[in-house]
Amino acid sequence: MANTINVTTAPEAHNYDIFIGDDLLPRVGRHVKKLTGITCQRVVIVSNKKVFGLYGSTVVDSLEAAGFITSTILIGDGEKYKSLTTAEKILSHMSESGVRRSDIVLALGGGVVGDAAGFAASVYMRGVGVVQVPTTLLSMIDSSTGGKTGVNSTFGKNLIGSFHHPLAVIADVSTLKTLPAEELRAGLCEAIKQGALSGKQLFDATARSVENVAQGDIGGIADLIALQIKFKASIVAGDERESMSGRGSRSRKVLNFGHTFAHALETVTDYKRLRHGEAVGYGILMAAELSKSLDLLDHKSVNLLYDVVRRVGSLPYVADVEPDSVMEMFKHDKKVLSGGLEYVLLRSFGRPVIQSADTISPKLIHSAISRVIRSGIGD
Ligand SMILES: NC(=O)c1ccc[n+]([C@@H]2O[C@H](COP(=O)([O-])OP(=O)(O)OC[C@H]3O[C@@H](n4cnc5c(N)ncnc54)[C@H](O)[C@@H]3O)[C@@H](O)[C@H]2O)c1
Ligand SMILES: [Zn+2]
Repeated sequence: MANTINVTTAPEAHNYDIFIGDDLLPRVGRHVKKLTGITCQRVVIVSNKKVFGLYGSTVVDSLEAAGFITSTILIGDGEKYKSLTTAEKILSHMSESGVRRSDIVLALGGGVVGDAAGFAASVYMRGVGVVQVPTTLLSMIDSSTGGKTGVNSTFGKNLIGSFHHPLAVIADVSTLKTLPAEELRAGLCEAIKQGALSGKQLFDATARSVENVAQGDIGGIADLIALQIKFKASIVAGDERESMSGRGSRSRKVLNFGHTFAHALETVTDYKRLRHGEAVGYGILMAAELSKSLDLLDHKSVNLLYDVVRRVGSLPYVADVEPDSVMEMFKHDKKVLSGGLEYVLLRSFGRPVIQSADTISPKLIHSAISRVIRSGIGD
């Protein structure tokens, strides 16, 4: 049985469906046919060698059985391949294969594939449709919905990009069976982040799933993914373009809970030690500690958050990281470029607040980082 969620984003009224369930890949062709009608002839599949090796033939067979001409472009595996060079390769492939404006791109893979393919689709002939087929937990609950696409460059992560909503998202949860445990862990940390932002109900549902999933039992995950996506979609619907001045609890910026700390940790460890989601695991604890120091969040909620992050399994070691070096990284955060560094803090589960860094004593920030690093959570 598949869950279907219909997403509408204002103000431009994009409307698309998100399908979540088991064994959806063999039905991809039929879904795409329904979405695109008779005008679309070609589907360009963007994937990487690993994911395509596992699921490519099922997707190709399904699309061809539905009457599409397919071609495939495989990109490198890893964050460093989410680049302009990769986007250019995808665009060259599209041009050489004679892709027309009525044709579409299908992104088969995790967030790296989804972001790069979505970006290429958004600029090819000023925009062709993209269907996102996420195959990691993180890309199912987060990156495939919401329309943000992009690539990294010498001047920063995700600083070149566009808003380009997919025609549909097809999340086949059976693909999670082959996902390495560390990748599942990274996705779970992002799920905890969204749970804490949404409120006690989603937080508790996420906490219940965490232990099972961390032990490789993914039964029931489709329902959690559906709840997670509903929450993300509800935030995106109200603030599609992440308005710069927005500071309310429904601003899209709240989805960055824990991310100011996470990005600094990723940078200071040279992007080698922590997956993005794992850094978010640490980041949300730091943001919670800071919220407690500012008398916003109570002790009990902070402990609960530690508890659930612990249940994900051990995170990579960071006890040797100096809090000062993490603080130094804030100066280079891309948010500084876009109008000043802000922290997303919590008053309670479901009640985020956005506060400018200028109003918070660096001493408090330093000690929040320090407490989490020394908490032993990554040992
Ligand atoms: N656009 C957005 O709104 C948004 C939101 C959050 C994150 N992101 C981006 O998402 C990216 C991270 O995505 P990710 O965590 O999915 O990482 P990823 O795409 O690098 O995938 C992680 C690893 O899992 C492998 N893999 C994927 N599916 C698999 C499967 N089913 N079985 C076995 N292996 C599989 C991949 O080959 C890769 O090695 C980052 O670039 C981040 O910036 C974007
Ligand atoms: Zn994230």
